[in-house]
Amino acid sequence: MATIFSGIKPTGIVTLGNYIGAMKHFVNLQDEHDAFYCIVDLHSITVEIDRVELMNNTRSLAALYIASGLDPKKSTIFVQSEVKAHAQLGWMMTCIAGMGELERMTQYKDKSKGQERIGAGLFVYPTLMAADILLYDAGLVPVGDDQKQHIELTRDLAQRFNSRYYETFIMPEPMIAETGARIMSLTNPEKKMSKSDANPKGFISMLDAPDVIRKKIKSAVTDSEGIVKFDRENKPGVSNLLEIYSLLAGIPIPELEEKYAGSNYGVFKADVAETIIAELEPIQQRYHELLNSKELDEILDQGRDKAELVANKKLAKVEKAMGLQRKRSK
Ligand code: AQP
Repeated sequence: MATIFSGIKPTGIVTLGNYIGAMKHFVNLQDEHDAFYCIVDLHSITVEIDRVELMNNTRSLAALYIASGLDPKKSTIFVQSEVKAHAQLGWMMTCIAGMGELERMTQYKDKSKGQERIGAGLFVYPTLMAADILLYDAGLVPVGDDQKQHIELTRDLAQRFNSRYYETFIMPEPMIAETGARIMSLTNPEKKMSKSDANPKGFISMLDAPDVIRKKIKSAVTDSEGIVKFDRENKPGVSNLLEIYSLLAGIPIPELEEKYAGSNYGVFKADVAETIIAELEPIQQRYHELLNSKELDEILDQGRDKAELVANKKLAKVEKAMGLQRKRSK
């Protein structure tokens, strides 16, 4: 069974997009795979972020991982910056990468657009992501569809390393679900839902209260046709709500179309909101129990120790391959 690695950036409170596109799969995969799930805080500092906010987001994401169903007995849950090998291998991967291939990354292009000052970290972010994956010999990386290009780059870097030095890394495969891999913004259904969206109406946060969820779904952009039908191109707003509803309730989209034939958007949206609330309520409850608990710290300490053992072993192999190991006198 392939080892799984994936992570989420603590740049804000995770959204329903992160949950559907990534976290739900993390939970499903932990039963059959050796799984490493990371809170990738080093990726969060590629943009300016307040230190207290980052610390709070990191803890909050760890609690949400567990509240959503990640079981520390099955999965290794840890904070990236606590396992120093990530930053070390990240540098080595940066040295293997070329400027041209990094310039082609669409996420870099999107995130740097209109910025007065672009941090160098944002540019080399994919090399750190490659290191994250390669440290654990991960064969499968469950991600949303926006990360596909970064996994392809990881494969290129691994291949280049293996042929320049010697066989060190295995080739990871992206694991992208057919549905739910790109949940769209509620205010602009042409754009993906993002936790760093300046307009909070664009996303459902995993910690939004029921009334906030109702309001956000009620004001979600749809169209003037008044027909509940899945048509990504012509009805992106309705299609996005149908996809969310279907994935959370486990009801196929055609059945939902049939159920709401003749209904107006108000009735449909109210049911979408209640479906989201029903999914998030137990998670939020468990989250609040965990957030300030000793249990959470113990889980993260154990996760760090376990991840460190695997990562340090791999790092030593990479150092050896690159000629970075001096023979010591003792
Ligand atoms: N809208 C989405 N639909 C489905 N999956 C998504 N993911 C992100 N947005 C959606 C997946 O969530 C995982 C964690 O993402 P991340 O936080 O590491 O980075 P991101 O892709 O940049 O996510 P955001 O929410 O857009 O963060 P910000 O706003 O900080 O940049 C990944 O597997 C991602 O594919």
